[in-house]
Amino acid sequence: MLIYAHRGARGYAPENTMAAFAEALRLKADGIELDVHLSRDGHVVICHEHTIDRTSNGHGWIRDLTLKQLKSYDFGSWFDRRYQGQSLVTLSEFMAWFTPTPLMLNIEIKNGPVIYPRIEEKIIAILQQFNASGRTIVSSFFHPSLSRIKELDGTLKTGILFECRPLNPLQFIRPTKADYLHPCWKSLDAGWCPAALAAGIGIHAYTVNTKEEYRFTAKMGARAVFTDYPDRFNTHAGPQ
Ligand code: G3P
Ligand code: CA
Repeated sequence: MLIYAHRGARGYAPENTMAAFAEALRLKADGIELDVHLSRDGHVVICHEHTIDRTSNGHGWIRDLTLKQLKSYDFGSWFDRRYQGQSLVTLSEFMAWFTPTPLMLNIEIKNGPVIYPRIEEKIIAILQQFNASGRTIVSSFFHPSLSRIKELDGTLKTGILFECRPLNPLQFIRPTKADYLHPCWKSLDAGWCPAALAAGIGIHAYTVNTKEEYRFTAKMGARAVFTDYPDRFNTHAGPQ
């Protein structure tokens, strides 16, 4: 089982900051999951929500703020005063840190071109600049974004995010040409999981935070989990 640190090791450090990413590396996660948006001036930036209200001392929609404005806020203190001064991270800044590490990467596109024009092109350009496409998966709940990724770079791996336990998640694969299914772990069941595995579609489940959830997810055949606590499951001796 592969362990992806969800938004960095967000159980231990403020999510989607360099502190959380460094913690994921320290805890020997196999990979990092992060979420991206576009700033008003077109930079790919890392944050979970469309606004910065919950995770910073600022306020507003990311798409309405320039990178300079976004960088002026503190993204660490809300979690713990020890993290005061953590700033919003651009995808390029993250990649400069990530490149020499052994980590894998899952980039989640939040909402895609409906809100962020050409975000897929920008992500691909950054991955190519850092020669990281081969160890990256791009995922999204907005599946047309994943179709667009495949149009732009057919070799880049993509994962279909879904939450609501659809009857047959395999139906998402053909129109998007996606490589993986990324369900909420609660959506796993003995019906579609074996069918996905038989079709060669890997299952990567989120957000698995307890040992019970992990055991169930493993039993359903998932090959990776996204977790806020990448040190919790002691899986590194196990098969990938
Ligand atoms: O990639 C899995 C997970 O991150 C999706 O949900 O809301 O945590 O971005 P969310
Ligand atoms: Ca995410």
